[in-house]
Amino acid sequence: MRFPGLIDAHVHLRVPGGEHKEDLHTGSAAALAGGFTTLLAMPNTQPPLVTLENWRIAQTQAQNQSLCDVFLFAGASIEHIAELPALAQHAHGLKVYLNDTYGPLRVEGTADLARIVQAWPAHKPIALHAEGDSVAVGIAMAALYQRRIHFCHISRKAEIELIADAKARGLPVTCEVTPHHLFLTQEDAKRLGALGDMRPRLAPQEDVDALWQHINSTIDCIASDHAPHTLSEKGSTNPPPGVPGLESTLPLLLTAASEGRITYQRISELLYTAPRRIYNLPEQPDTWIEVDEQAAYTFPDHPLYTKCGWSPFTGRQMTGRLTRVIYKGSVVYQDGKVLSY
Ligand code: NCD
Ligand code: ZN
Ligand code: ZN
Ligand code: ZN
Repeated sequence: MRFPGLIDAHVHLRVPGGEHKEDLHTGSAAALAGGFTTLLAMPNTQPPLVTLENWRIAQTQAQNQSLCDVFLFAGASIEHIAELPALAQHAHGLKVYLNDTYGPLRVEGTADLARIVQAWPAHKPIALHAEGDSVAVGIAMAALYQRRIHFCHISRKAEIELIADAKARGLPVTCEVTPHHLFLTQEDAKRLGALGDMRPRLAPQEDVDALWQHINSTIDCIASDHAPHTLSEKGSTNPPPGVPGLESTLPLLLTAASEGRITYQRISELLYTAPRRIYNLPEQPDTWIEVDEQAAYTFPDHPLYTKCGWSPFTGRQMTGRLTRVIYKGSVVYQDGKVLSY
């Protein structure tokens, strides 16, 4: 079975400043090994990508050193609000952090958020890290200022229901969910310890069920939130939140399709059509992926390419495997190996 080259609209490639966790070479190889040929990478780097100068340097590097297409989000900080109009001419989207998570970027208070939202043009999306009541704040921004608000990694019943209501009223909002919030619960978090800790945290079964109830309606796309940290960081006394996901996302979804929980057509919409539309991403000529939807195996069935080297899904039974990736006319992945690596 063939799919278009998939798009992961939420990854952390850790460049610049976090290259011991991931770099452009390992991160983009992990993308190809997961069936992704386009990535949107987050700006919570060191330094964060909140000025045009830093963004430009990082974007050029990403383009030159990656094995697939990589587009970088611009980051928002109130100190650098004057940079936003210039950043908006180049970046496909703006990222704003409303709650505590990994990295220094945070926008505190609704007044600062409103200024940032208005400084960004109406036709390009603003992606929000918004948990709980922050989702309502994001919806208010969409309504008051007619800005396109995209909610990252929605994980709770109350959040997805608010977004469903906002959409029913015609507000310009979209949202993504992650595979870990679809396939793991609070119970797994106990078992996994730091390897199952991320923001938003894993949720009770009831919330996971709610996400699945909205999988063919309210949810626009699935993004991995690939957030690699090393095993030694995860084993420390103050482990950073985040889990890798580039190489497990497609296997998990193919497995769900083999069980009749989602259609293959819907996977294609969630991982290609919708992110391409939301972020206005270019078409990739002569690019597609091939999967064997019947292959059964224990994940991972070949060494992971992500530099962090682990996955919260290790040991899981999967049905459905990526067999080949053709990227701009060349075979770049075959038989478990990234050929361009
Ligand atoms: C992300 C990271 O490590 O950069 N961590 C996470 O737990 N999701 C940050 C983020 O996406 O919020
Ligand atoms: Zn986040
Ligand atoms: Zn993230
Ligand atoms: Zn190489």
